[in-house]
Amino acid sequence: MDTEEFRRHAHAFVDWMTDYLAEVERYPVRAQVKPGDVAARLPQTPPERGEPMEKIFADFTSVVLPGITHWQHPSFFAYFPANSSPPSVLAEMLTATLGAQCMLWQTSPAATELETRVLDWLRQMAGLPDGFTGVIQDSASSAILCALLTARERATGWRANDEGVNAVGPLKVYCSTETHSATEKGAKIAGLGMRNVRKIAVDDRFAMRPDALEAAIREDLAAGATPICVVASLGTTGVGAMDPLRPIGEACRRHGVWLHVDAAWAGSALILSEHRGLLDGIEHVDSFVFNPHKWLFTNFDCSAHYVRDPDALVRTLEILPAFLKTRERGHVTDYRDWSVQLGRRFRALKLWFVIRSYGVAELRRMVAAHIALAREAAEWIAAAPDFELMAPRSLALVNFRYHPAGLDDGAMLDRLNERLLEALNDSGELYLTQNRVHGAYAIRLAIGQTTTRRRHVEAAWEKIQTTARALPA
Ligand SMILES: Cc1ncc(COP(=O)(O)O)c(C=O)c1O
Repeated sequence: MDTEEFRRHAHAFVDWMTDYLAEVERYPVRAQVKPGDVAARLPQTPPERGEPMEKIFADFTSVVLPGITHWQHPSFFAYFPANSSPPSVLAEMLTATLGAQCMLWQTSPAATELETRVLDWLRQMAGLPDGFTGVIQDSASSAILCALLTARERATGWRANDEGVNAVGPLKVYCSTETHSATEKGAKIAGLGMRNVRKIAVDDRFAMRPDALEAAIREDLAAGATPICVVASLGTTGVGAMDPLRPIGEACRRHGVWLHVDAAWAGSALILSEHRGLLDGIEHVDSFVFNPHKWLFTNFDCSAHYVRDPDALVRTLEILPAFLKTRERGHVTDYRDWSVQLGRRFRALKLWFVIRSYGVAELRRMVAAHIALAREAAEWIAAAPDFELMAPRSLALVNFRYHPAGLDDGAMLDRLNERLLEALNDSGELYLTQNRVHGAYAIRLAIGQTTTRRRHVEAAWEKIQTTARALPA
């Protein structure tokens, strides 16, 4: 493809992108294809000769698009959002065009220095104190893995890295029963073993109980094990529970345990000063992560990972073969040793574009609007005689179920709500996901799409009610 051909296609693609974003509501939110539908339309072997871009693009629209779930649809209420925005998309175009691999300062000084600066902006926006240094990871899971590895090394005097985990005896990790599975996955990868992850009981608001944490740590110490890390959550995936950082942090300090905070989704709400109380006890926190790629209008992937002691992280991960040595080493930041992978995308650019294009005040307004919509939706649900909230609303997340009068059998209610969810998602009009609350099936409504307005939430609530009431018994 020569330059002029590229220009022609690029202009056409930008027109398509603009129309897509303007008309995304025309598409079913969740892909409506069956397993294998897309694969059946893909040739078994690659083309021997190059094909015209017109033909490739035609297949993109006819083969690929029907198999896409439209995460940027304003009626996307599933999982947590992965919202994006026009300035973020524009930056991603530039990032793709530059195609820079930013593992070392030298391999793109601007990428490194912009990452450092924009993460410090974000730190200030979220009210994290001075003394936290940021790095962009691909995901919160990677940040949790880095925290577990650093905690492991700090607790073992960097012996596990050298001699292997087996040499240093049982190492224990703590999180609540509500914590995201990324902690267990991290423990598997870090060689700690899932059995050494202790799930701490929660209170009636699903938050980790500090007294139960203290008891578990003491029990493990008495048994000769080494507690290394607590993963506390601000905004659990299921119900958005907030673990109390101060008493958890005090327990960590008493016992010399690393405290990592997983605020993957809820961290974005910290740009609103009214939620800063969640950071009470932050002085005890060693590392903290939240994902602008969830709820801060920045394309996936962009996970902001803050550490109090970057040297500990780098000492844990660094490896220096001759081919990675540069003249500037030691005088600049080389992000290659701040994360598991060596190669790094230029991810700071999109965050910089988003923050500059909207400004902090507008970002605050956008996040606050989502929370206000969820507050309203929770009120509608609570007021409906045949629906109920399954947990207190947390920020922009609501858990509820359909509960018609006279039907009190738990298993039947579960099945009814499962059928309701399937019917809603099959309609293509909205997309929601499920959860279990105290063992019972619940439907999650997570509001956070960039273009979601009140009319979309109203339409969703209307659709939920009419679908539920029309379900055969
Ligand atoms: C609370 C929480 N932690 C961690 C994760 C994992 O996030 P990631 O996909 O960035 O690894 C999620 C995903 O939704 C989450 O909700």
